[in-house]
Amino acid sequence: MDGVRKTFDKWAQNGKAELMEKEHSNNVSKFFQTISFEESFTFLDVGCGNGWVVRKIAKEKNCKKSIGIDKSKKMITQAKKKQDNNKEEFFHTDVESWNYKGKFDIIFSMESLYYADSIEVAIRKIYKLLKPRGQFFCGIDFYSDNKATVRWANIMKIQMHLHSKKEWREFFQNAGFKVKTKHFKDLKNKKKWKREFGTLFITGTKHEK
Ligand SMILES: C[S@@+](CC[C@H](N)C(=O)[O-])C[C@H]1O[C@@H](n2cnc3c(N)ncnc32)[C@H](O)[C@@H]1O
Repeated sequence: MDGVRKTFDKWAQNGKAELMEKEHSNNVSKFFQTISFEESFTFLDVGCGNGWVVRKIAKEKNCKKSIGIDKSKKMITQAKKKQDNNKEEFFHTDVESWNYKGKFDIIFSMESLYYADSIEVAIRKIYKLLKPRGQFFCGIDFYSDNKATVRWANIMKIQMHLHSKKEWREFFQNAGFKVKTKHFKDLKNKKKWKREFGTLFITGTKHEK
């Protein structure tokens, strides 16, 4: 079993999935407040962990379907246990090899893509999974401009690809996306990086056809 899967299988069972939910929810919620959910939409969370974002988005009245995928089987087991709405669905798979026939209006991913074997392959697959004009919202704390987070790779001891904001923009552009970025800081947080750099949100918009 690969190291990423093994680590997150452990995290699914030792409370760290809920800790991630707590750590990420402030900036993710602030980000979602900038998104209009006024038209009917389908939603996918790539690397959904315990499924907290899938549940949150399923509560939006215009959400038709909210799907979560994760390469950790135990994360998906937790997510299914917490399921509270029949719009939600969870699948145990990595995004790269997921064989899904449908397409989405919105794809989201928080702190997950840099664990992929190839970020480029994962982003190209996400592009294919979107409808024309669909949007991919990607949140990242671990990026080289955000210096305090660089040491996480030594602590985690698993595959984590470190890139700058500029390189992330290029991955998106090379896959065909139009790109916008935003930083969400948490000015009252005890952690300096959350106050000074915060979460980088990259929005990729697919072309019209
Ligand atoms: C740091 S956790 C974040 C979980 C969740 N997004 C959150 O904010 O709580 C990263 C998750 O991404 C999953 N993951 C990593 N690479 C993946 C891939 N290529 N396809 C699907 N899931 C992946 C891991 O198993 C893990 O559960």
